[in-house]
Amino acid sequence: MWRSLKAWFTSATKPELMMWLGVLLVAGLGFVLASTSGTSSNWFCTEPCHNVHYDNTLTFNAGSHIMVSCAACHEPFEGGLIALTLAKIEVAPDLIPTVMGTYPMPLNENHSVALEMGDHFCTQCHNLDTREVNPSFGIIIDHAAHTDRGITCASCHNRVAHPEEGIEYTQEGNRHHEDWMTMDACYRCHGLEDGAQAPGSCETCHTAAFDLVPTSHDASGWYEKFGESGGHAAAYAEETSRVAQAEEWVAGLEAVEHTEAPEGLGYEQTVNTCYTCHTKQYCTDCHGGLEMPHPASFATEHGALGLENPAGCATCHARNEAEAAGTGFCNACHHPASTAGTPWVKQHFTAVAEQGAKGCFECHDPLYCETCHVSGAEAAEAFMRQNAQ
Ligand code: HEC
Ligand code: HEC
Ligand code: HEC
Ligand code: HEC
Ligand code: HEC
Ligand code: HEC
Ligand code: HEC
Ligand code: HEC
Ligand code: HEC
Ligand code: HEC
Ligand code: HEC
Repeated sequence: MWRSLKAWFTSATKPELMMWLGVLLVAGLGFVLASTSGTSSNWFCTEPCHNVHYDNTLTFNAGSHIMVSCAACHEPFEGGLIALTLAKIEVAPDLIPTVMGTYPMPLNENHSVALEMGDHFCTQCHNLDTREVNPSFGIIIDHAAHTDRGITCASCHNRVAHPEEGIEYTQEGNRHHEDWMTMDACYRCHGLEDGAQAPGSCETCHTAAFDLVPTSHDASGWYEKFGESGGHAAAYAEETSRVAQAEEWVAGLEAVEHTEAPEGLGYEQTVNTCYTCHTKQYCTDCHGGLEMPHPASFATEHGALGLENPAGCATCHARNEAEAAGTGFCNACHHPASTAGTPWVKQHFTAVAEQGAKGCFECHDPLYCETCHVSGAEAAEAFMRQNAQ
């Protein structure tokens, strides 16, 4: 074979050689063009790589970019054929795990795809200088405030072509990603506390007509003055444990090279949603300035603390206005049989008559009763006069 090729080569005329060289060049170019465009087609991305991209295609088909080629967002078009060919060579090793089925699931767990995607992919079709943006009811968005600071489109619109809501993944080990078009995600940068990168006050992003109270707060038992308020406490506890889990998950992820987006983006699930709308101060103000839950020392020190600042305890322990106005709330625990509004000393005997005095001695020394009862009516009167103030 080689020998006859050599024989032909030496016998061929110069014009003949030139012609064949031309044919070879055209064929080579044709192959590169055909393979790059072939491997850039949606068919190639979804069918031969079916086992890898099955779930991504489900989301793509549910998105607003179904008429757009995968390559428009996922392959470098701006460098021309050379950049494209280089990019193909770069991803060629992915073929092995694709065939072997050893690729990681979920793909893109740390959002490196969104974080590394430059704006030029989006702006080849979208021009925000001329486009009129129609946000949802009550939402304000200022695109320039972000784009001027190098904050990329995909650091907010990350799921624009792959929305996951309502999609059930079929590939083993796959899971949904975060969607950064949520309020919590805005609070990766925005915040209510001093030192936040961007303002967190409601009017920054909401029009006056927007209802600022989330529906979670309408649930019965969320907060009711002198009533059941454990709902918000339970929601907070759940949120705190969710955040702790997310932080653990994030700590186990591979670091992402943020080539385009600013540092620290991603993982809004580590944002505590209570503190997107509330400062910590807002919570502790209503809690009488106390850290919750109560410290262990409270068992013996709460009496003195409560007498010092009764209003601080009353939000949580008073059963009505009358108890909230003074130290009557102590009775909510100490003398639960009490009727609020009447001093306990004027009703304690009713409780004794109905339930006996045994329960009283869980807290009181029998001598305690005697300070009034044995000392006689006079001492009792004096005691009560002193306590009436
Ligand atoms: C309009 C732009 C756009 C188009 C078109 C597009 N994608 Fe994506 N794709 C993205 C963005 C942005 C992400 C990053 C998502 C993230 O990090 O949360 C992504 C992520 C992915 C991922 C990582 C897994 C995931 O769900 O995050 C795969 C795989 C993928 N795309 C494949 C495809 C395929 C296959 C097509 C064509 C059928 C396609 N994409 C079309 C923008 C696009
Ligand atoms: C090849 C052209 C093309 C590319 C590339 C492209 N888009 Fe689009 N996009 C469209 C078209 C067409 C529509 C539908 C009409 C419209 O709303 O403009 C659309 C719709 C949208 C919408 C409104 C619908 C929705 O789902 O919210 C957003 C937001 C959007 N694109 C953002 C992006 C972002 C971000 C990127 C880059 C990751 C991108 N687009 C890349 C063509 C493109
Ligand atoms: C800081 C987050 C953020 C960034 C960055 C961002 N957007 Fe948006 N964008 C939004 C929000 C929020 C809306 C309003 C969405 C809504 O309320 O439905 C929006 C709306 C849009 C819409 C209009 C959709 C419609 O239905 O009218 C388009 C198109 C769009 N963005 C494209 C882009 C492109 C292109 C870029 C990058 C150049 C970009 N966005 C960067 C947050 C962002
Ligand atoms: C990557 C960080 C980042 C994210 C994420 C982000 N923003 Fe911003 N945003 C900024 C910065 C920085 C500014 C400029 C603050 C300033 O003026 O000092 C800004 C400003 C704004 C402004 C204008 C504020 C004003 O009146 O000056 C609006 C509106 C806004 N963002 C809305 C949003 C919304 C809605 C989202 C979520 C969909 C969002 N942003 C997510 C960083 C971010
Ligand atoms: C940086 C922008 C930004 C700021 C500041 C902001 N929001 Fe939002 N908010 C959003 C976006 C974006 C949505 C829509 C999210 C979605 O559709 O999931 C939203 C949705 C909501 C919703 C409806 C969704 C829900 O959770 O029930 C409520 C209520 C709300 N915001 C209240 C507030 C309050 C109260 C404040 C002030 C403490 C505030 N927001 C400040 C961006 C912001
Ligand atoms: C999307 C914004 C938003 C989020 C998130 C949010 N709140 Fe609120 N919350 C509000 C608004 C608005 C009010 C009404 C404030 C007012 O009237 O001054 C409120 C009021 C409250 C009140 C006072 C009682 C009431 O219902 O008026 C409590 C308690 C409370 N929130 C606890 C929480 C806890 C705990 C979380 C987290 C699990 C949380 N909130 C998350 C917006 C929010
Ligand atoms: C309007 C007043 C009010 C506000 C505002 C308020 N709380 Fe409370 N909080 C209460 C009351 C009343 C209780 C007692 C509930 C009960 O009886 O179980 C309570 C109890 C709690 C507890 C339970 C303490 C324990 O150890 O069991 C937690 C946790 C808590 N709140 C968290 C929060 C957080 C976080 C915020 C702010 C986002 C907040 N609260 C805002 C009134 C408030
Ligand atoms: C939430 C329920 C509750 C409230 C409210 C409460 N107490 Fe108590 N208190 C207890 C319990 C339970 C004990 C028994 C503690 C023990 O022995 O472990 C106790 C014990 C005491 C003791 C004895 C402490 C010791 O050294 O053993 C005093 C004094 C006291 N309370 C005073 C008060 C006063 C004054 C108030 C109102 C300002 C008050 N308490 C409000 C539950 C409460
Ligand atoms: C934020 C609401 C809140 C405030 C403010 C608060 N407490 Fe409590 N307190 C609770 C809750 C919730 C419990 C746990 C009750 C339970 O587990 O049944 C509790 C438990 C206690 C207990 C232990 C009761 C027992 O059965 O062991 C005492 C004593 C007590 N509080 C006294 C006080 C005093 C005194 C103050 C004021 C200095 C105060 N608390 C302020 C919410 C509050
Ligand atoms: C859980 C503990 C506890 C139990 C049980 C209890 N007490 Fe008390 N009682 C107290 C505390 C604490 C005070 C307030 C002590 C102080 O102010 O120094 C108090 C105060 C009193 C006072 C004085 C009221 C005043 O105005 O000064 C009387 C009378 C009294 N108790 C009677 C009773 C009787 C009767 C019973 C049984 C039916 C009972 N107590 C059960 C803890 C208890
Ligand atoms: C602060 C003083 C004071 C203390 C302490 C006190 N009492 Fe009394 N008690 C009185 C007074 C005053 C009366 C009479 C009330 C009246 O008739 O209006 C009374 C009446 C009674 C009666 C009704 C007696 C009758 O003859 O009708 C009983 C039973 C009683 N007390 C039990 C107790 C017990 C048990 C304790 C201790 C746990 C106790 N008291 C502690 C002041 C006190």
